[in-house]
Amino acid sequence: MRTQVGIIGAGPAGLMLSHLLHRQGIESVVIDNRSRADIEATIRAGVLEQGTVDLLSDLGVGERMRREGAVHHGIELRFAGRGHRIDLYGLTGGKAITVYAQHEVIKDLVAARLAGGGTIVFDAQDVSVHELDRTAPVIRYRHGGGAWGLECDFVAGCDGFHGICRAAIPQSERKEFSRVYPFGWFGILTRAPPSSRELIYAHHQRGFALVSTRSPDIQRLYFQCDPHDEVGNWSDERIWAEFRAWLATHDGWAPREGPVIQKNIVAMRSFVCETMRYGRLFLAGDAAHIVPPTGAKGLNLAVADVRVLAQALTGFYADGRHDLLDAYPETALRRIWRAEHFSWWMTSMLHRFPGNDPFQERLQLAELGYVTSSRAKATTLAENYVGLPFE
Ligand code: FAD
Ligand code: PHB
Repeated sequence: MRTQVGIIGAGPAGLMLSHLLHRQGIESVVIDNRSRADIEATIRAGVLEQGTVDLLSDLGVGERMRREGAVHHGIELRFAGRGHRIDLYGLTGGKAITVYAQHEVIKDLVAARLAGGGTIVFDAQDVSVHELDRTAPVIRYRHGGGAWGLECDFVAGCDGFHGICRAAIPQSERKEFSRVYPFGWFGILTRAPPSSRELIYAHHQRGFALVSTRSPDIQRLYFQCDPHDEVGNWSDERIWAEFRAWLATHDGWAPREGPVIQKNIVAMRSFVCETMRYGRLFLAGDAAHIVPPTGAKGLNLAVADVRVLAQALTGFYADGRHDLLDAYPETALRRIWRAEHFSWWMTSMLHRFPGNDPFQERLQLAELGYVTSSRAKATTLAENYVGLPFE
């Protein structure tokens, strides 16, 4: 088997890349080790930047998102028992975010790619990459009882943080930066109408909480937890008691409660592998970098990477250019490090760190007070949150 670009991973990065290449007449095959049902049911991100929304629409896969997604013009920062609105729309000259679940984006991307004649191999086993430093790298995998080899011009490593592509780059060649946070997020889906029209990022003495939405009758909420805790330790009543306490305001606001239909714990880290190219292997998305979810940047950053990578591959196939491929890591890393900083800043401002002394808490409150009273500082938050322009 042969293709031009072999893509490992059918997440947002891999599927978007396949669409972008297809639009330029470049062939690709996407290979994932999970089933279609599993990929389409994994609950993750919810916030799409304006640029991500526009790109999905340009690619002709935005119809359901426009119909079912919710456009938000602001967010609330809540601290010391009061809410403060950040007017994203007003501060950024008319930009907004769209709340539309990642797995719905995945469903739309998979359906459109298959309808357009694309190949996505689900349930592949023992995926491995070879000959990365030659002109014809090979992806090997097992599928349907047989062993397969896919020869390509390039391999795109879009296989997430725990994938095999980054690990295929020799350790001695990899330049990596990492920070692990001493807390995680406990996330729930609950069957209840939205508690708030806009997302609420709440700072509380005991920790951070986030109120997000999914649909008119499903809410997504998170609270900060011990990353080693287990969901089995948390009854619905215990979960709601935490939300009620951490989200309380002086004027008696309370979340709308319902049965908890899904619970999970996510660890939090910041990570960048600056070696985003090794021979004919290019890393994109979570395979190359991770941000804590507080800035809602992960999915959007994956999309931004493959936008740059698709342009570089187009330059190669259309005009024989190598310069854009050579420049890919440097170009992508400018946006990546900005998003790393924003996500770290939001995380540091809003979470309780173990051993948080009163001094640390006062600094956080001073920062939050400044963000919500200075137009300059609020604009910094707003323009990063809705997404900086593409280069
Ligand atoms: P992934 O989505 O991880 O996709 C990688 C794919 O590769 C997977 O389908 C996997 O099955 C496959 N794969 C892995 N290993 C192999 C292998 N060996 N062989 C073949 N295939 C393999 N981001 C936002 O932008 N906004 C948000 O609001 C937001 N909220 C989040 C909330 C939570 C709770 C979490 C956990 C994340 C959130 N994120 C958010 C981050 C976002 O979900 C990720 O950044 C995004 O999924 C990255 O996309 P990706 O395609 O790079 O990787
Ligand atoms: C979500 O809706 O899942 C969500 C929203 C905002 C974030 C992270 C996750 O910062």
